[in-house]
Amino acid sequence: MSVKEDLIKKLKNKDARIAILGLGYVGLPLAAVFAEAGFRVMGIDPDSRKVDSLKNGISYIPDVKTEAIAKLVQSGHLTATVDFSVLRDVDAVSICVPTPLRQTGDPDMSFIISAADQLATYMHQGVVVVLQSTTYPGTTRELLLPKLGTDPDLKVGEDWFLAFSPERVDPGRSDYMTKNTPKVMGGITEACGEVATAWYKVGIDIVHQVSSAEAAEMAKLLENTFRMINIGLVNELAIMCERLGVDVWEVIDAAATKPFGFMKFTPGPGLGGHCIPIDPLYLSWKMKSFNYNARFIELASEINTNMPRYVVSRVMEALNDRSKPLKGSKVLVLGAAYKPDVDDVRESPALDVIGLLQKKGALVEYHDPFIPHIQHEYDGWHMDSIKDVMQAVQEADAVVIVTNHKVYDYDAIVASAKFVFDSRNATQKVVKDSENVVRL
Ligand SMILES: NC(=O)c1ccc[n+]([C@@H]2O[C@H](COP(=O)([O-])OP(=O)(O)OC[C@H]3O[C@@H](n4cnc5c(N)ncnc54)[C@H](O)[C@@H]3O)[C@@H](O)[C@H]2O)c1
Repeated sequence: MSVKEDLIKKLKNKDARIAILGLGYVGLPLAAVFAEAGFRVMGIDPDSRKVDSLKNGISYIPDVKTEAIAKLVQSGHLTATVDFSVLRDVDAVSICVPTPLRQTGDPDMSFIISAADQLATYMHQGVVVVLQSTTYPGTTRELLLPKLGTDPDLKVGEDWFLAFSPERVDPGRSDYMTKNTPKVMGGITEACGEVATAWYKVGIDIVHQVSSAEAAEMAKLLENTFRMINIGLVNELAIMCERLGVDVWEVIDAAATKPFGFMKFTPGPGLGGHCIPIDPLYLSWKMKSFNYNARFIELASEINTNMPRYVVSRVMEALNDRSKPLKGSKVLVLGAAYKPDVDDVRESPALDVIGLLQKKGALVEYHDPFIPHIQHEYDGWHMDSIKDVMQAVQEADAVVIVTNHKVYDYDAIVASAKFVFDSRNATQKVVKDSENVVRL
């Protein structure tokens, strides 16, 4: 039996030992899915707090239930460690480490490089490696393959296998989770794709194999670029509608009644999260090395990046209409997470909105039921969420809704506030004609 056949058999029989590198929003749900499918899964993460939490059977990712983790830990299907040497004995590895952008907008590959360097030490015959971190096209072949394939006796596609599978998890979502969201898989060789697909099919309902790692990398970038550009479009529409004196939300709802050929996107205070603001820029960065300027991406990025500034200018104008300067006004920002009902503040536009308000001299506080503390990575400021949200609403000269968390009582907020700037249309249902509300 060839190495490939032997490994596929082990994977199908769930005899293969699995390692997940990186136990965050992507890695932990994936580890749980494979453990639930019957594999013995080892989660590896240098963050000892996460590892300790899992050892105690406690989940720190809202979409993964503590009861589920406790059961998997107790049954021995899921273990966690900071010790990378366990990689010596595994048959399948999935890499789920962060891929942020540097302040300059260039991809920060340091986490992939460090994970690959760790893994390279323990590479052996009969192992399949899948990269799940979102990245620029070519990463799997150009960066991972040379790092993992240093042993001249081990041939990729024959002795070991390497593939890319983009991650699609949408935190906070309950209809499509890791198990029932189709996965795309593309190998460095046909055999690599086959082995990786055979593995993932054991835990995930649908795996769609494509012809190469590059096709899989590009599929992810198409998905996120599609979203980023459409959000850029509706953000610009919001700016145009304001000048025209037309309600952008009404326009979008009207367009959305078309049952075909239109997909609803909504404007907001800017892009956030680990994907939409970042991933398309990976593609445009890569295209620069081909002397190609990815114009749609650059334009949408420019519009979206400017939205926090636009929100602050609208707040300033609205206060001016109420004979108040922004400087010295008390402003309460509601919501710091990048989207409703999650505890993730990465790239959140709230950070920029707060920073810009502060720079204009406003006295800013924020409240977020999911995020007790925030800090701006580059500007250096930090802040705690205020405790009594309704008291702060009453005291503020302006309440700025940045994240439309469901837990907020928007009726009560509008009734108590002097003035509300709503960048998410959170107040649409409750205050259609309220004079103290200005919408984006
Ligand atoms: N969060 C999402 O909604 C989402 C959706 C789609 C794709 N992605 C992509 O998935 C990847 C992971 O994102 P995430 O949200 O899970 O990030 P995360 O920050 O939540 O988790 C990453 C984990 O990797 C760990 N880590 C760092 N260096 C490591 C190393 N060398 N070895 C092992 N572990 C290491 C970190 O300690 C952290 O726990 C990123 O590329 C991201 O763009 C994320």
